[in-house]
Amino acid sequence: MGNLKKRTPPEQHPQRTGRKPPRALKWVIIGILAVGVVAIGLSVAGQSPSATTPVAIDPGAVAAGEQLYQANCAACHGPDLRGTAVGPPFLDVIYAPNHHSDESFQRAAEVGVQPHHWNFGPMPAVGANAGLTRDDVALIVAYVRSEQEAAGIFNDPSH
Ligand code: HEC
Repeated sequence: MGNLKKRTPPEQHPQRTGRKPPRALKWVIIGILAVGVVAIGLSVAGQSPSATTPVAIDPGAVAAGEQLYQANCAACHGPDLRGTAVGPPFLDVIYAPNHHSDESFQRAAEVGVQPHHWNFGPMPAVGANAGLTRDDVALIVAYVRSEQEAAGIFNDPSH
């Protein structure tokens, strides 16, 4: 009996120290989560310029896109993006990013456009005909977005 009672204090001791590993573990988990959140944040930040944000437009992409635009799109949409007798202007709020997304430019270049906003008639699949890749069209979009922003066109408020 005496021996059992003497053992009681040492048994409590392991219980106390026993709390330390979970506490340390908690901080390890918090640390891993924090690193994970920062990593996700960095990867999202790294993708956003090309994915969605028209604000962070790469100047190199704009210059390359301008050349592709002038060669493939300007004949109808105008060298200054203000349209021609055969195609609509891109400096119009209906072509703002929230109304005509970057993907709608990809589709237009790849398969053409059935007339629905204007009376110019259909747009042929000029991108596919000229062998433009999605990357080429993305450069054209970067140029168009930068010109739209310069003209104060951001989002279509009525859309
Ligand atoms: C042969 C003339 C012509 C050329 C070249 C041309 N387009 Fe078009 N595009 C049009 C016409 C016409 C429309 C308007 C259709 C309508 O009534 O909505 C149009 C509409 C569009 C639209 C709007 C699509 C939609 O969903 O409403 C986009 C985006 C577009 N063009 C992108 C381009 C790009 C990018 C190029 C160059 C790679 C290009 N276009 C070259 C004639 C042209």
